[in-house]
Amino acid sequence: MTDLDQLKTDALTRIENAPDAAALEALRIEFLGKQGSISGLMKTLGGMSPEERQVQGPLLNGLRTETADAIAARKEVLENTELEARLAGESIDLTLPAPEVPRGSVHPVSQVMDEIAEIFADLGFAVATGPEIEDDWHNFTALNMSETHPARAEMDTFYFPDRDAEDHRMLLRTHTSPVQIRTMKAASANGGEPVRIIAPGRVYRSDSDATHTPMFHQVEGLAIDRDIHLGHLKWTLETFFKALFERDDIVLRLRPSYFPFTEPSVEFDVGYSNEGGRRVVGGHGDAEGHDWMELGGSGMVNPRVLEFAGFDPNEWQGFAFGLGIDRLTMLKYGMNDLRAFFDGDGRWLSHYGFSPFDQPTLSGGVGARA
Ligand code: DAH
Repeated sequence: MTDLDQLKTDALTRIENAPDAAALEALRIEFLGKQGSISGLMKTLGGMSPEERQVQGPLLNGLRTETADAIAARKEVLENTELEARLAGESIDLTLPAPEVPRGSVHPVSQVMDEIAEIFADLGFAVATGPEIEDDWHNFTALNMSETHPARAEMDTFYFPDRDAEDHRMLLRTHTSPVQIRTMKAASANGGEPVRIIAPGRVYRSDSDATHTPMFHQVEGLAIDRDIHLGHLKWTLETFFKALFERDDIVLRLRPSYFPFTEPSVEFDVGYSNEGGRRVVGGHGDAEGHDWMELGGSGMVNPRVLEFAGFDPNEWQGFAFGLGIDRLTMLKYGMNDLRAFFDGDGRWLSHYGFSPFDQPTLSGGVGARA
């Protein structure tokens, strides 16, 4: 065996047996480092005769390459073993409780909107939506509020500055009633068909004090068919309030009123009582009987509105109602400051908010009380 063969066997054996990365690196330096033994041999090529170099050159080059390859191979083996050892040593206990993750909560208004949608779904009403940036026609004109109608002025409307060719400005809808028009138009375009919808959502008025915020929430209701009458309206509202407030002793009172888009028009009040200094919907009021709280407006859809929306008023009629959701939320969950609703204070939200994972809070829905 030549010296070179001896060196090679020795190098490859030691590399093969290097116990860890540090030992392997020491071997690399020993053989291939600047002062390494193989590097030293490579340097001797310069002093050889051409004939000798021709023989020794390939031998030494081969030795260097094989050594380097062996080191690379051993390195990979060591790295894999190291990883496997680490994986075997580290174990995860899946039975340990997970660290707590901060969790958001459902805003009370969203919660009540969901409850409202759930109750009306039981009554056969679908949820309809419309744009919050509305045009004048849907927000006013088609609801029988002509350009000169005083109700328009009362609405404290937010207008956009630009005017269209007909001198109309876009606006932030002041109520959810334009969704009535959009829904009826879609239904009449289909040749006319019964409508049963609610439309919950944001509305805007330039108004701000302890009980008013420039943005607030309403829910609109609309039922159109061939033989709808005011009795259906009263039953629907009463059934709704019983389900929402989860009590049977809720009394509803309708009072004659005026809205341009309904004829006749009524406002509805619910009876409330005082329980521990708090106003609670339902019950039997004080010694004199019920105290009444106004909750919204309603009536039979004005024939002119039906016409605007493409329904023949000789064939179709229906009821509509609108009420404020924020007020309902305060009543149901015992909150007293409307402005806190929209401050976005995380502490308020985590106190009053609802877990997104809880069951709906309504105990029985409509069916349970029918
Ligand atoms: N849109 C009315 C408002 O915001 C509320 C209202 C009254 C809606 C009577 C109706 C209705 O659908 O029939 O003041």
